[in-house]
Parts: sequence; structure tokens; C-alpha cells
Amino acid sequence: MGFPSTRLRRLRSNSLIRSKIQETDLSPRRLVAPLFVRPGRGVRIPIASMPGQCQMSPDILVKEAKALRQRGITSILLFGIPPRKDAKGSDAYAANGIVQQALRALKKALPDTLLIADLCFCEYTSHGHCGIIKRQSGGARERGSGRNTWDVDNDATLKLIAKTAVAQARAGADVIAPSGMMDGMVKTIRHALDHAGFKNTLIMSYAAKYASAFYGPFREAAESAPKFGNRHSYQMNPANAEEALREVAEDIAEGADIVMVKPALAYLDIIRRVKERFHVPVAAYNVSGEYSMVKAAGQKGWIDEKAVTREILTAIRRAGADWIITYHAKDLLLPRI
Ligand code: PBG
Repeated sequence: MGFPSTRLRRLRSNSLIRSKIQETDLSPRRLVAPLFVRPGRGVRIPIASMPGQCQMSPDILVKEAKALRQRGITSILLFGIPPRKDAKGSDAYAANGIVQQALRALKKALPDTLLIADLCFCEYTSHGHCGIIKRQSGGARERGSGRNTWDVDNDATLKLIAKTAVAQARAGADVIAPSGMMDGMVKTIRHALDHAGFKNTLIMSYAAKYASAFYGPFREAAESAPKFGNRHSYQMNPANAEEALREVAEDIAEGADIVMVKPALAYLDIIRRVKERFHVPVAAYNVSGEYSMVKAAGQKGWIDEKAVTREILTAIRRAGADWIITYHAKDLLLPRI
């Protein structure tokens, strides 16, 4: 035909040219490592359902954050496991709550690591829900009616969210990351932070957070499974995309600096639509279940764990995520850029 038969393959013909035309990178500055802190000293408790991840006391956490820093990972997302849980999740906003202790230790040891504090109550409440529980009026639930006798009280929870955000900022958080899916949470936090003098503290909102079965291992890690019911009245239905765009629009209008889509792998379409529609930084959370599936199959020798990890994280970046929050961060051994 006279048409060059290697027209497209020419650009794949050797590794040098392949790397020159690669469109998407996994630079460590794109990655955020989630870490779990619990009280004590010298404590490192492995999380069975998430091989390679641990609950750590603040001193060990600082060592872990330093190891990450050495690999070029300059931001971490903190989750706390408090010494005691109660109905209002009071350790979340206590001046000396576990996350606040960890933030102070990290700030001192690693002043140039970006500290992101997850803000939610499910790890802190005795019932495991992401806010204050109230009884629903309207009498007893009819079996199968789909109505609950309880609900998470949005506005009562907002008051505690405001207190927690200020406690976290005081302890050294650079970014507050509300993950409870309460309406108005971003506006409430922005107002509380500004009022307390933290005008430059950022908000990364879990804007489109789905009610996902992929959170299973995290709930073991953070000891945060709900004791009754489920999170369907505050987290989103996985079948909905338009609603995710409404959630994101609302959070941006309320003052979110960075918006998150969660989980990541089963929601690449959402990441892409959010990135295309709103011109703000987008984070994607490669959640516990996504991590554990890869680890389990890797341990069985069914997949090449490292290659699959890179492929997944590259896909999440390619979909449009600026940041990826991932438990794989430490394992990646990325070249410094
Ligand atoms: C809830 C919260 C969840 C995760 C982080 N914060 C999910 C949930 O239990 O509903 C999940 C993260 C993961 O699975 O890695 N505040």
C-alpha cells in the first residue's frame, strides 16, 4: 500500500522514546500516604486485612513519616484510634485527642511535610456512625418499609465538626479533610477556621464519597464499623454520577480548596467528570479494599503486585486525579523527580 506499516509502533520502538512520550507520571509529590495513630509508645500493631499497614503510636508514626519523606512523599493523611469512644466522639475534638497529639509530634519533627487531618467521628463514636445519632420521629419502623428509626443529626454534628477542625488546626494540621458527608460541613469548617485565625488552613473535602463495600478493611484498621445500620443516609449511592457533580459543586461553593472522589478505581468516570467540569485540584482515594485485593492476589502469586499497583495508580492519574491517597505510597520506590 506504500503506507508505513510501523506508523504507530515507531513511537514504541525503544524504551528511551517510550519514556519520552509517556503522558502520565506517578511522581511522589502526587501521592498522599494514609496513616493510623493510636495511643502509647513504641506501639506498632499490624492490620491483618491490610498487609504492610499498621496502627502506630505517635513516636513510631514520626519514624514512619520520616521514612516516607525520604522516599519523596511529602504529605500524609492521619486517622486516629482513640483510647475511649463515646456517643459524641469527644476524643476527636479534645485538645489532647490522639490525632492532636500526633499532629504536634509530626509538626515538630517534620515541619516540611504537609499534614492532612481526616475529620470524621466514626472512629471516635461508640456506635461507629459519622456523627451524632438522633431518634427519628414518626413511630416504629415498619419491617421492610426502608425507613430508619434513627438518623445522623446533621446540624448537631456540624457543631462538633467545627470544634474538631479548630482543634486539628491548632495542633498543626495544614489541611482539614472532612469525610463525614454532612451537608454544610465545608462552610462550617471554613467559618470556624477563619474565626479562630486559621485563614490559610486548607480544606480538602471528601466531596463525592460513595457508600462503598471497598471500605471493609479500613473499618478493621480504624475500628470504625457501624454497630447498627449502614451509612447509606449520608454516603452516596454508587449508581449515581450526576449527584456527585452536585456534591462537588456545593463543596466548592462552600469553600473547598481540594475536592476528593472516593473510592477511586471503580469511580474513574467520576474523577474524569469532576476534573473536566471544575477547575480545582482533585484528589482520589485509592481505598483499603482496592489495596487489599492487590495485596492478596500478589501474595498468592496470581498477579505481579508492583506492576498492577503502578497500572492502577497510573489509571487514576490518567482519569484526572492530581493527588492519589494510597496505602501503596511507601511500596512504590519511585524515582525522585
Ligand atoms: C469514614 C471513612 C471511611 C474511610 C475513611 N474515612 C469509610 C467508612 O468507613 O465509611 C475509608 C478509607 C478506606 O477504605 O481506605 N470517615
